[in-house]
This record gives sequence, C-alpha cells and structure tokens, in this order.
Amino acid sequence: MNTITTDNKSLQQRLKALKEEKNAVILAHYYQEPDIQEVADFIGDSLELAKKAAQTSADIIVFAGVHFMAETAKILNPSKKVLLPDLNAGCSLAESCPPDAFQNIKSEYPDHVVVTYINCSAEIKAMSDLVCTSSNAEKIINSIPEEKEIIFAPDKNLGRYLIEKTGRNMLLWDGACIVHEAFSLDKLLELYKEHPSAMIIAHPESEDHILKTANYIGSTSGMLNFVKNSDHDTFIVATEAGILHQMQKDVPHKTLIPAPAKEDNTCACSECAFMKMNTLQKLYNCLEKETPEILLEESLMKKAHLPIQRMLEI
Ligand code: 13P
Ligand code: SF4
Repeated sequence: MNTITTDNKSLQQRLKALKEEKNAVILAHYYQEPDIQEVADFIGDSLELAKKAAQTSADIIVFAGVHFMAETAKILNPSKKVLLPDLNAGCSLAESCPPDAFQNIKSEYPDHVVVTYINCSAEIKAMSDLVCTSSNAEKIINSIPEEKEIIFAPDKNLGRYLIEKTGRNMLLWDGACIVHEAFSLDKLLELYKEHPSAMIIAHPESEDHILKTANYIGSTSGMLNFVKNSDHDTFIVATEAGILHQMQKDVPHKTLIPAPAKEDNTCACSECAFMKMNTLQKLYNCLEKETPEILLEESLMKKAHLPIQRMLEI
C-alpha cells in the first residue's frame, strides 16, 4: 500500500489546481491507490461511477479506474473528453470475452436475452440486451420475463451466484476475475479460527466456496455500507485491498483484515495489477497533456449505450 509522501502531497495540490483550471472531474474506483482516492472528486463502485460520469457537467472526466469503466463513462457522456491514466489498465473479465467468440455463442442461442456484467468491452456491451453491475445484477435478472432464457457474461462466479439467488437457469460465459479467484479457502478458514467473532464479507466475483463462508455478499459499496452499519467490530474482507483505505476511514475503530490469497504475498492482501497501473504521477500527466483519451466510434457508442441505459432505468 502507498504511503502519502511530501512529494505526493505537492503533486496532489498541483493536480487539484490543474483540475480547476481545466474544469475536470476525477472519478476513482475504490480499488485505486489511497493517494489517488484522496485527490478524487468522487469515489465509488462501478454503478455509482457510471452514474456520476453520466451526470457531470465538467469538460473532462479523468477516470482513475480500468479501461471498461472509462469506456462506459465515454458512452454515457460522449461529448466529454474522457482520459484514462494508463490505457493498459484492462481487466481479466473483459479480456476473457472477445467479440468474435461472443458473437458465435449469441448466434447459437438467438432467442436468449443477453445480460453482460459491466466489466466487458464496449463491443460486448453493444451485443447485449442489458448490462448490470455487482450492485444491481439480481434486480436486472429479476426484471427479465420468466419464460425468457438468459446468456450471462463474462463472470461465471457472479453468474453462478445469480443463478442461486434468482433461481434462473442461465448460460454462463467462462470468465473470471483474477483477483477474486485468488482467495484461498484454507487460509481464510485458518484466519477465521484466529478471529472467530469476525464477519466475513465478500464480493460476488469470488468463487463459490468463498461465498459460502460469507456473512455478507455485495458490491464494493455494499460492503462499505455493511461494515458501517454492522454492530460487529472485526471483518475479514474478501475483495481487492484498495477498498480498505475508504473502509478504515469510515470505521476507524473497527478491525479490517484482508482475506488471504492462495499465493504467498508480502502484504497478505490481494491487489488488482490493472487497477494499480494508474499512479498519481500518471494521473497528473494525463490531465496535463490530455492524453491518453478514450475514443470510440459513434455507431459503437450508440449500440453500447442502449443496454446501459436500460440498466439505469431499471
Ligand atoms: P464493483 O465496483 O461493482 O463492486 O465491482 C468491482 C470490480 O471488480 C470492479 O472492477
Ligand atoms: Fe477486473 Fe478483477 Fe481487476 Fe476488477 S479486480 S478490474 S474485475 S481484474
């Protein structure tokens, strides 16, 4: 985890001044480095960030998150300049679902309703009937008439969880989040033995055996609200470790323990290498030079906008 140094502080101040000068807004996901979160105008989960991007009156949106999030911002507010500090900040879920292969599945099941998790490319969104995020997925699935069959992509873990929650039999794409698939059940149970009064909270991108141990399952914002409103004092947190920064600020007197990953790692917590490609320096540089910018074809944006708009209406 990053510590805030004097250098970072002065960079943050320069960034704030630059932001005002250019009428820019910085939107950051909870998985970003603490020093990025500290300089953001808004921190949120993927649904909240999409809504903020759609509503902003700023001229420039600097997206401190990953590529699919910045693309979604551009689709929702195409007249704005959308910047992403590092264009390589991808996502294993988005990468698992190439448009050609997805088109083949769609053609095999032409009558299925296609629901995609927001963690996918604009091309995949453009092939979808509905988009969802981890905080509204259950509601979105329940909005589909019972007699309709469903393809759900790209997260098989979230998909399996939704099948259990909604009772709907969905055809699942075989994608997964490399961060949430890396939690170790054995290590988690060992940790729980050491902290038997802890509540285990997990993101639904986690594997089934991790979700089975959880007292609460929800999106990043859902987890934050749960910890804030719970009477418990200790939480084992099964999601990307960036969330601990905001969580600890919300509940300074509670104990938060990151769920352990299968691989040995020095910080004993799980970090998304894609999310962590963004740094404070890259954030500054990208606003100063107004690049890298997210640019999408008009026709692709129009097609991808429809299923996202349907989601926002539901
Ligand atoms: P949420 O922000 O919807 O909780 O999703 C987490 C995630 O993995 C984003 O990449
Ligand atoms: Fe993608 Fe997982 Fe990273 Fe989120 S945490 S951006 S789902 S790889």
